[in-house]
Amino acid sequence: MLSYRHGFHAGNPADVFKHAVLIALIRALQEKPRAIQFVDTHAGPALYDLADPVAQKNREYASGIGRWWPLRDLDPLMQAYLELVRSFNPAGALERYPGSPMIFRRLLRPNDKLVLCELHPAEQKALKTRFDGDPQVRLRLGNGYEQIGKVLPPPGGRGLVLIDPPWELKTEMDDLTASLERAVRLFAHGVYLVWYPMIEGREISLAELPDRLGLSPERWLDLRLEFAPEQRLGRMYGCGLALINCPYRVRQTLLDWHRDFSAPAR
Ligand SMILES: C[S@@+](CC[C@H](N)C(=O)[O-])C[C@H]1O[C@@H](n2cnc3c(N)ncnc32)[C@H](O)[C@@H]1O
Repeated sequence: MLSYRHGFHAGNPADVFKHAVLIALIRALQEKPRAIQFVDTHAGPALYDLADPVAQKNREYASGIGRWWPLRDLDPLMQAYLELVRSFNPAGALERYPGSPMIFRRLLRPNDKLVLCELHPAEQKALKTRFDGDPQVRLRLGNGYEQIGKVLPPPGGRGLVLIDPPWELKTEMDDLTASLERAVRLFAHGVYLVWYPMIEGREISLAELPDRLGLSPERWLDLRLEFAPEQRLGRMYGCGLALINCPYRVRQTLLDWHRDFSAPAR
């Protein structure tokens, strides 16, 4: 059942899109000094060695971070993303790619906290190796959809939840909807970021969620990205990011950026 391993996909075009938006959101929330609790419901193993045979199998990173890597003087959002990835590769060559737990951890301020959930035993082991004993990180090694109810609302009243499932199970949409209903009941003004794939022959749409969750249009943002033909990953031709309660200032930035965002030519 747990066949998905993000190591095969780390740094691909979907990761670039998701992580660039994630960094912009974290930074926007951190403009205010009050502590934030970040929750990563589907964390993955945190850091990826791109020379590993798993990453080399399909080399998905080549059409993702691999294309952005040599570029300089980008727009502020992509510049911030690339600088963060570069900080994991101090020798200058692209060798390692940070997953969302590492991105969160790198950006935590001393008063912020991070909660990581993960179901796969191998990924849990990797998370334990990296974060056991870290006073700012709490591992909740179980079903992220269930853990949400146990960690919300955050102690200080400010929080961001990333929900980044593999979308391999038929129940994924129902699980997501039920868990978001619970989360929004517990923490109505929390910021939520949900990743979903666009797959030929299996249209996934989150368009019904705002109604189900009782969200007014200004509390909902759905950014969809179609990959360039050569970036397609099998039947996956793009991906989307749904945001709930996106802070007002970054909302316009994201909309402007998203309008112009496209992968650089090789
Ligand atoms: C797309 S990957 C996460 C990638 C990571 N968020 C990132 O951006 O670097 C999805 C992860 O969710 C894990 N997973 C699958 N079902 C889960 C569940 N119900 N609760 C927690 N983790 C789950 C998988 O083992 C996998 O590591």
